[in-house]
Amino acid sequence: MSRERIEWIVESCRLLRGIGDELEQTTPFAGRTIGTGIHLEPKTAALLLTLARGGARVVSTGNLNTTQPETVEYLRERDVEVIGRPTRDADEHDGYLRAVLAEKPDLLLDNGGDLFVRFLESPYHGLVGGTEETTSGRMRLLPLRERIARPLLVINDSPIKQFAENRHAVGQSVLESLLRITNRATNGRRVTVFGYGACGKGVAENLRSAHALVSVVEVDPVTRLEALLDGFAVPEREDALASADVIVTVTGAADVVTGADVPLLKDGAILMNAGHLPREIDVPALDAAAETVRGDAGDVRTLELADGRTIHVLTGGHMVTLAGPRPLGNSIESMDLGFALQTRCLEAVSSGAVGAESCVVPVPREVDERVASAYLALERRTSL
Ligand SMILES: NC(=O)c1ccc[n+]([C@@H]2O[C@H](COP(=O)([O-])OP(=O)(O)OC[C@H]3O[C@@H](n4cnc5c(N)ncnc54)[C@H](O)[C@@H]3O)[C@@H](O)[C@H]2O)c1
Repeated sequence: MSRERIEWIVESCRLLRGIGDELEQTTPFAGRTIGTGIHLEPKTAALLLTLARGGARVVSTGNLNTTQPETVEYLRERDVEVIGRPTRDADEHDGYLRAVLAEKPDLLLDNGGDLFVRFLESPYHGLVGGTEETTSGRMRLLPLRERIARPLLVINDSPIKQFAENRHAVGQSVLESLLRITNRATNGRRVTVFGYGACGKGVAENLRSAHALVSVVEVDPVTRLEALLDGFAVPEREDALASADVIVTVTGAADVVTGADVPLLKDGAILMNAGHLPREIDVPALDAAAETVRGDAGDVRTLELADGRTIHVLTGGHMVTLAGPRPLGNSIESMDLGFALQTRCLEAVSSGAVGAESCVVPVPREVDERVASAYLALERRTSL
């Protein structure tokens, strides 16, 4: 990615720009080290640079398979410490996360619970608390609340994050990723979306807007009913698997599609995952069921089965919106909103405005209101 593109994205984060101007004056993070393991792409660069403008020393590493080398370079030139390099190797990534923790950050900006889980394995003195970005992270950290015993605000649980990013932006970027990676039309294709949470709703809606025939597989009967009343087909899981041209998983759960499902899949089916962790589609088991495997694991991989069928797995089952060729991730506006929440929440944790009772809880209402008001004010004044 060119320097100009990174700058276009960083400069387009209007909320973060305004907050950064303010934090440069108030320096709420002066003397603090903030440690993070987050997708390193230009929008997160805007976040990390905003935290640095607020006086923080920022020590970061990426997530599995999503680190963009140009962004790393851009951050390093601006004194953000970046540990490691892009990797798909879980052990190598684990080493990078531990290296972040070895710096004993005062605040953790976590993504998927990776840092807090490892902190509990080797606790150190001085961790004030932090934030967690995702649904998957909340699910992982909730049972550990008593041991964490520090303020830990879950950005995902803000209504703003739910509708701006998870519903609208993930929906758009999954559609964008399918078109970008396969270059195939969606019109008339049978698409099955696994999971009808905030993300699944947006994915189903955007694919329907792109003239696909969309069905939803959802384990929760109440949510499944909602999908039906929203106008989606809700077939039994096996029927959906057998008829889908495209299967999208976006649940946060493991083994949503497994090797045992291979006999059901339609010839030519495309499988892609938009959930945070690369475990929703059991790619190793699918590989094992194939006679031959060809293509690039980071792009489109084709599995040829003994009975002559082929199936295609996009980006090795890694989160498709930030993988494959020229990944864009979610829209700038949605991430600007989410990262404004991140910054304000870290500010609240750092200042002691929230205490240990706020451990694995949603964003405080006043933070949501402040960020929403700032966005609405910007909309009135400027155009992106
Ligand atoms: N791609 C992105 O940019 C992006 C952005 C935000 C979140 N995410 C990730 O997307 C995933 C979903 O997030 P969400 O906010 O929609 O979560 P959510 O909790 O709102 O919804 C998940 C839904 O999946 C359903 N589900 C669980 N297991 C299932 C299964 N085996 N089969 C069918 N349905 C199942 C649940 O009942 C629930 O309704 C998480 O991993 C989250 O971290 C991705």
